[in-house]
Amino acid sequence: MLAMLVATLFAAAQTPELLSRQRALVRLDQPATYLLIPVEEQGMNATVNVLGADNRVMQSFSVRLAVNKVDYYVPLEIKDGKVLDISVRFPQNDERNIRDFACWEELKYSNTFDTTNREKFRPVYHHTPAYGWMNDPNGMYYKDGVYHLSYQWNPYGSMWGNMTWGHSTSRDLIHWETQPATIWADGLGSIFSGSAVVDKDNTAGFGAGAVVAFYTSAGASQMQSMAYSTDGGRTFTKYEHNPVLTLPVADFRDPKVFWNEDVRRWNMILAAGQEMRIYSSANLKEWTYESSFGEGYGAHGGVWECPDLMKLPVRGTGQQKWMLVCNINPGGPFGGSATQYFIGQFDGHKFTCESAPEVTKWMDYGKDHYATVTFSNAPEGRHIALAWMSNWQYANQVPTMQFRSANSVPRDLDLFEYQGQTYLGVMPSKELLALRGKVVKQPTQTCEIVVNLKNNTQITLANAKGEQVTMTYDAKARTFSMNREKSGDVGFSEAFPCETVAPVYGSLKQLRIFIDRCSIEALDAEGKMAMTNLVFPSEPYNTLTVKGGKATIYEIN
Ligand code: FRU
Repeated sequence: MLAMLVATLFAAAQTPELLSRQRALVRLDQPATYLLIPVEEQGMNATVNVLGADNRVMQSFSVRLAVNKVDYYVPLEIKDGKVLDISVRFPQNDERNIRDFACWEELKYSNTFDTTNREKFRPVYHHTPAYGWMNDPNGMYYKDGVYHLSYQWNPYGSMWGNMTWGHSTSRDLIHWETQPATIWADGLGSIFSGSAVVDKDNTAGFGAGAVVAFYTSAGASQMQSMAYSTDGGRTFTKYEHNPVLTLPVADFRDPKVFWNEDVRRWNMILAAGQEMRIYSSANLKEWTYESSFGEGYGAHGGVWECPDLMKLPVRGTGQQKWMLVCNINPGGPFGGSATQYFIGQFDGHKFTCESAPEVTKWMDYGKDHYATVTFSNAPEGRHIALAWMSNWQYANQVPTMQFRSANSVPRDLDLFEYQGQTYLGVMPSKELLALRGKVVKQPTQTCEIVVNLKNNTQITLANAKGEQVTMTYDAKARTFSMNREKSGDVGFSEAFPCETVAPVYGSLKQLRIFIDRCSIEALDAEGKMAMTNLVFPSEPYNTLTVKGGKATIYEIN
C-alpha cells in the first residue's frame, strides 16, 4: 500500500514523445498536483505550452530546462493540463537534440513541493519568495489587520521571466506568509508592476471594500489593466474591459493609484518614457489625463519606473508637502538601479517640484534599494515603504539559487528641512524594535547593531576569512560610506564590489545597522540617511570593531 502511495506521489514522468530535434511532448497522465520540472540555471531556455482538452493553450511560460545537471526543481501545477508542448531554439550550428537533455530522467510527479529553505543567504526577518525569482514589490495594501505584499515573481526559475504577481501577507511587516499567486499572465501579456487600493466607498461598483489592483499588461506593447478581489485579496478577477489605459509609448508602466482626499478623486501616476504621467478618475475604470512631470528634472540616466506620490508632514513645521518617487534604472548614483524623489506640491492635477531642475535627491544611498513604493491604506496615516534589495546590474547573478532577492526592512516616510531644502526622512519602522533580542558581544548573521556616534566613526565587520565591510562616518565632510569590496563573494559581477557614499544632512547621532545574512541596511535612527547594500560573506561576520562610537548588538532570531 505504502509502496503504491509513494509510486503515485513521486512517479517519474514517462519519456517524452519527440516531435523534432527541438520539440517534445509530455503527456500529463498521472493524477498528481504537480509536475516537478528540473531546472539548470545555465540550461536551455525552453517554451512550454500547457495544452488542455482539445489542445487549447491554457498557459505558456519559459523555463531553463536541465541539460547537463539539475540545479533545482520548479513545480508546475497540473490542474486541467493534458499535454506539455516543449520547444527550444538551438543557436545556429548547435547540433544538439532535445532528447539528450538531463531533464527527462528527472521529470517527476508529486502531490507536494518542498519549500524548506536550502539557502545559507536567505534572510530571516526580510520578506523573500518561498522559491523562484522576485523583483519589485507590487500591489501593497493594508486591510483588516493584514499587510498584503504582491511582487514581481517568476514561479518557474530564479531568474527574471514569466512575470506573475506572487503574494505574501503579514500582520507585523516582518513575519510573512506565502499565499497563492494572485495575478497570472494572459493574452494581453505578462503581469508587470503596479499597485492596489481598497475601494471603501464602492466607487468602482465591485462592492464596498473591494481590493482593486492595477498592473501593466506587458506584451508586444505595455498597457494598464485592472483586477479586483471581493474576498479580501485572496483571489482576483480580471476586469472584463481591460486594458483600462493605453498610450503608444514603448515604456508605459507601473501604475500607482491612490485616493486623493484633497480633490476627492482617485489619482494614478505611472511611468511613460522619461516622464511620469498623472491621471484622475472617479470610478477607477475611466481615467482622465491630467499632466506629466519630469522633463529636465533630476536624474535621467536610465528608464523611469515604479512611481509613487504622497502627501507627507514636514517635521516640526505643521506643514505638509507632496513627494514624488521615481525609481530609475540605470542611472543610480553608484551605477544601475536607485530610487530618486522630488518634493513639491500637487493639486490633484499637476505636480510642481520646488527644487531647481538640476537637484537630484536619493532615497537610499546604497546600491541595493530599488522599485520602492508604499502601502495603500496603511493604519495611523503611515506611509510605509518597501524596496527590492537588489540592483539590475547583477540581480540575476547573486549567489542564491532556490530563491532570488529579498525586500528591504519596512521604513516609515516623512519630510525634514535642512539648509533651505526639504528632504525625505526614512525611519526604520517601529515594528523592527520588537525584533530586538538579547544583547550580545559580537555580531551574528542576523542582528541589529546600534551605534551611538559623536564624531568621526569607523565601523568594521569582519570574519576569520579576512572578509570585511567597513563603514565610515566623516563628521566634517558630512558623509557616511560603506565599502564592500572585500565583503566576501564579490566576483559574480564587476559591478558588485564598490563603496557607496551618502551625504549626511546635519550630524549622525545614532545608526541602526540591520544585518540579515546577505544584507546590511545602515539607517540613521532619525531617518536622515539610509544605505542598503548586499554582501555575501563565505561565513558570517563575527567581529565588530568600532572606533569613535559606542555599539550595542542585539540578536535577532
Ligand atoms: C522595475 C521593472 C518595472 C517593471 C518590472 C518588470 O524593476 O522594470 O518597471 O514593471 O520591473 O518585472
